[in-house]
Amino acid sequence: MNAKDNVIASLVAVLGTELPADKIAELLEVPKSSKLGDYAFPTFSLAKVRRQAPPLIAQSLVAAIDQTGYEQVVATGAYVNFFLDKSAFAQDILTTVLTAGEHYGDSDLGAGGNVPIDMSSPNIAKPMSMGHLRSTVIGNSLAKIYSKIGYHPYKINYLGDWGTQFGKLIVAYHKWGSEAEIKADPIGNLLKYYVRFHKEAETDPALDDEGRLWFKKLEDGDPEATHLWEWFRGLSLAEFNKIYQRLGVEFDSDNGEAYYNDKMDPVVQELTDKHLLQESQGAQIVDLTAEGLTPALIKRSDGATLYITRDLAAAIDRYNKFHFAKSLYVVGSEQTEHFKQLKAVLEKMGHTWAQDIVHVPFGLITKDGKKLSTRKGNVVLLDKVLDDAVDLAKAQIAAKNPDLANADQVAHQVGVGAVIFHDLKNDRLDSFDFSLQEVVRFEGETGPYVQYTNARAQSILRKAGTKLDLTTSKLALTDPQAWDVLKYLADFPNIIKRAATEYEPSVVAKFALRLAKAFNKYYANSKILVADDELNARLALVSAVSQVLQAALDLLGVQAPAEM
Ligand code: ARG
Repeated sequence: MNAKDNVIASLVAVLGTELPADKIAELLEVPKSSKLGDYAFPTFSLAKVRRQAPPLIAQSLVAAIDQTGYEQVVATGAYVNFFLDKSAFAQDILTTVLTAGEHYGDSDLGAGGNVPIDMSSPNIAKPMSMGHLRSTVIGNSLAKIYSKIGYHPYKINYLGDWGTQFGKLIVAYHKWGSEAEIKADPIGNLLKYYVRFHKEAETDPALDDEGRLWFKKLEDGDPEATHLWEWFRGLSLAEFNKIYQRLGVEFDSDNGEAYYNDKMDPVVQELTDKHLLQESQGAQIVDLTAEGLTPALIKRSDGATLYITRDLAAAIDRYNKFHFAKSLYVVGSEQTEHFKQLKAVLEKMGHTWAQDIVHVPFGLITKDGKKLSTRKGNVVLLDKVLDDAVDLAKAQIAAKNPDLANADQVAHQVGVGAVIFHDLKNDRLDSFDFSLQEVVRFEGETGPYVQYTNARAQSILRKAGTKLDLTTSKLALTDPQAWDVLKYLADFPNIIKRAATEYEPSVVAKFALRLAKAFNKYYANSKILVADDELNARLALVSAVSQVLQAALDLLGVQAPAEM
């Protein structure tokens, strides 16, 4: 039981049925200053029923509360202030963390429910964008967080490998492309053709028609179109895989849009049978006026299917496969309307499970205040970002720790970790302007700072060289400097749950920063390696901090080198 639960239990014991435990948990505050205690319970909500002034209620509660396990419990105005017994708390939390090991914070909230996570999902024949990077790292972190609380995540890379753009690309390749160019730099040149296509189509609209025609051919299985498409797809996937490998992200499936090409007929049939399809200017649509949404375009007048048609087939397929507890889609906030339409159509079809579909949107990354756009060629190349970050890490290591044994591997862990952490530390809906300088900054609120704090803890433990004694009495830590650190350690299980309910890895990242900061403050103000009675308890604290920092970094998909 953690400290907060203890306080809740103490209050339940004296309040009985007057206030339920969850209500107490909601009311309980953490005072701004620890001079006012570790937890404070406001009595205002009891005043009406008791017909008593809040300060009097606070006093009578204090008189009734069993004070064992607390330093003191006092009434201050309308509040009951709880001061935890610090050494008992330290014993309790250090035992819990160190005996649970990597399982500290695990729970079975999810009861084994399946959670498919649609993530990354870049588009073939284009470079992976910053948006896809965000989706990849947020999705990967959510998978880890959900797994820790007892769900079964399935990471799905729903590749954008189908749609009119492939018709356009084929036209562009026929007109301006060459095999040699593509072999030399696949994505670079495919992008070049694509950009040129859009530029020329501005003055020559016939190009668009030609593009649509070729996509139709592709949908109908035309051998030349299929051959080119497979070629483009294979080359692109190989490039994407290089990035995934560097990021340390793996998928359970990369069934993308094309996989659903032959699985849409039953969906269209179902829509027809349920009288949901309407004709509008030759196209087939589902009217969503009642839902306050624009109509969902299911089939174009030439019979070609659309993005949402494939998403409908994919959503149904996922439900049939997984009977999911939740189905997540980590996709930029600019697609909010699309996912509202998707859910609305599924609900109209009578699929009650549509309510468990969750769009997890995130904010836009701009560059110099402008939207990044593949079409306009205004892109940030991810490979380059990772290269630069790793180079910078290498330079830092060479300056600070020139004798480090596996410097290249550590530079990779630190450089890539910096990029991932930078992406995850802000609330996911916040938009930010991309600046490489900012991403690879190693001071302040960054991944390398957290990694460095863990490495420092590891180095203290190496220097101490002793084995920890986990006997409870040997874990009593009285140093007030350690107090914040202990409270953060105790908070980790709640942090994980909050990150999960809010679909927000930043909750974990911000926690890691707080814990690292508190630990560095402790380190600056206390002598750890002094042979006295509390040495074992201090080392236990250092060990617990390192363990929880590593666990937090792992939940973010960031590695934790033991030395750097
Ligand atoms: N490929 C799409 C894009 O880059 C994202 C796909 C998101 N997932 C989905 N099921 N629609 O915009």
